[in-house]
Amino acid sequence: LMSEQDYVVADISLAEFGNKEIEIAETEMPGLMSCVEEFGESKPLAGARITGSLHMTIQTAVLIRTLEALGAKVRWASCNIFSTQDHAAAAIAAAGTPVFAVKGESLEEYWTYTDKIFQWPDGEPSNMILDDGGDATMYILLGARAEEGEDILSNPGSEEEEYLFAQIKKRMAETPGFFVKQRHAIKGVSEETTTGVNRLYQLMEKGHLPFPAINVNDSVTKSKFDNKYGCKESLVDGIRRGTDVMMAGKTAIVCGYGDVGKGSAASLQGAGARVKVTEVDPICALQAAMDGYEVVTLRDAAPTADIVITTTGNKDVVTIDDMRALKDMAIVGNIGHFDNEIQVAELKNHKWTNIKPQVDMVEFPDGKRMILLSEGRLLNLGNATGHPSFVMSASFTNQVLAQIELFTKGDEYENKVYVLPKHLDEKVARLHLEKLGVQLTEMTDQQASYIGVSKQGPFKPEHYRY
Ligand code: NAI
Repeated sequence: LMSEQDYVVADISLAEFGNKEIEIAETEMPGLMSCVEEFGESKPLAGARITGSLHMTIQTAVLIRTLEALGAKVRWASCNIFSTQDHAAAAIAAAGTPVFAVKGESLEEYWTYTDKIFQWPDGEPSNMILDDGGDATMYILLGARAEEGEDILSNPGSEEEEYLFAQIKKRMAETPGFFVKQRHAIKGVSEETTTGVNRLYQLMEKGHLPFPAINVNDSVTKSKFDNKYGCKESLVDGIRRGTDVMMAGKTAIVCGYGDVGKGSAASLQGAGARVKVTEVDPICALQAAMDGYEVVTLRDAAPTADIVITTTGNKDVVTIDDMRALKDMAIVGNIGHFDNEIQVAELKNHKWTNIKPQVDMVEFPDGKRMILLSEGRLLNLGNATGHPSFVMSASFTNQVLAQIELFTKGDEYENKVYVLPKHLDEKVARLHLEKLGVQLTEMTDQQASYIGVSKQGPFKPEHYRY
C-alpha cells in the first residue's frame, strides 16, 4: 500500500539528470566519500532523525546520501526560496528521502516546507537539526515559546515573519504541544553559516538555547574556504548567468570585507573589474586597502559603480538612496545570507520588469534603471548553482562530524555553542589534499619539539587565525 507522497519537488522526472550530476559531484567530494568509508559500517547516526534546512543543491544531495549511509533518517528543505536545484531535489525524492524544495517557491510554501521537515510519518519528533541560517531552529524555538504563553506572534515585523507566524499558529492549532515536545527531543543543532551562528550566540547569551550547538561555520576548513574560495568562484558565476555583462573594466563595489567579501572582491578582480570595498571594521578595511582595493563609502562611490555586491550579513547596507545614486543599468546583488542587506522593500512601488527568473529591471521615477539579482536574496545560489562541489565537501565533512558528535555525545555538552576541535579541522583539510596532489612535509622529531608541536598535529594554537 502506498502512503501519501511524502515530498514536494518541481518535477520528479528530473531525477535521472540529478543522479548523473550527483555521481560527478561525488568525485569532487573526497571528504564526504571518506566519511562513508570510515563510518559506513559502524553507522554512528543509526537512530538519528535529522531535520535538514540547507540549500537543496547537488552538493547537498551528496551530504544527504552520506548522512543516510551513516544510518540517519533525514527530512530536508532548502533554506532559501531560490536556491534549490530541482534535479537534485528530484533525485533525492526519487530515492525515497522526504524533501520539500522547489526553486522559486513562495514564502508561504517556504515555511510550510520548514514545518514538513519536522513531520515524520510516525508522528514522533526529530532529534537533530542541521541548519543553514537558523530558520529551522528558530521555527521550533519561537513556536515553543508561543506555546508556553509568550505573546510573540502578534506583531510580524516583515513579510517573512508574517508567513512564519501564520505557520506557527497553524501548527499550534493542529498539533497542540508540538513545539515544546519537539524542542525537548532535539539533542543538538549543527549550523552552517555566519548569520545562523550569530543567531545561536544571541540565543545563548539570552539563555534561550535549549540544546548544544556546533558552529560549523567557524571551523577553519569551512569559513576560510567555503566563504572565501567558494564565493570567489560562485559570485561572478551568478552575475554572468544572470546578466552576461562584460565584467572587465567595470567598476564594482563590494560591501564588507570579511570572508565572503574577500572571496567576492577576488572574484570580481579576477574577472577584470576595478574593485572598491566598503567596511565598518578598521582591521578589515586595512586588509582591503593592503590587498590593493580602494576603500570607500557607498554613499561617495555609488555614482561610479556598475556593479554593487553586498556581503555583510548586516541589514540596510545598500539603501534606497544609494540605489538612486547608481549609474543607469547598474547591477545590484547580495551574497550574504538574508535579503535585508538591500532595501528591496523600498523598491516595491517602483516599476519592475521581469527579464527572466531571478533577474529584474527596476526603474526609478527619474527613468534611471537598475538590474536587481534574485530580488536581493543570495545571488550565487539564486542566479547560479552555489559553490563548486570540492569546497562544499570540506564544509559538509565538518557538518557530518558535528552531527556524529552531537548525536553520540550530545549529553556531554552544555547548552552552548561549540566549534569542532582543531584535530578534526585538520583532518577535514587532510582528506582534501590527495585530490589536489598536495605533498605534505613531515617534521623531524627535533623540529617538532623545537616549535613545541606534535608531529601529528594539532599544528597551531587555538588563537591562530590562518
Ligand atoms: P564576516 O563577519 O566575516 O564578514 C562580514 C563583514 O561585513 C565584516 O567584516 C563586517 O565588518 C562587515 N560589515 C558589517 N556591516 C557593514 C556595513 N554596514 N558596511 C560595510 N561592511 C559591513 O561574515 P562572512 O563569513 O563573510 O559572511 C557574510 C554573510 O554571507 C553572512 O550572512 C553569511 O551567512 C553569508 N554567507 C553566504 C555564502 C554564500 O554562498 N552566499 C557563503 C558563506 C556565508
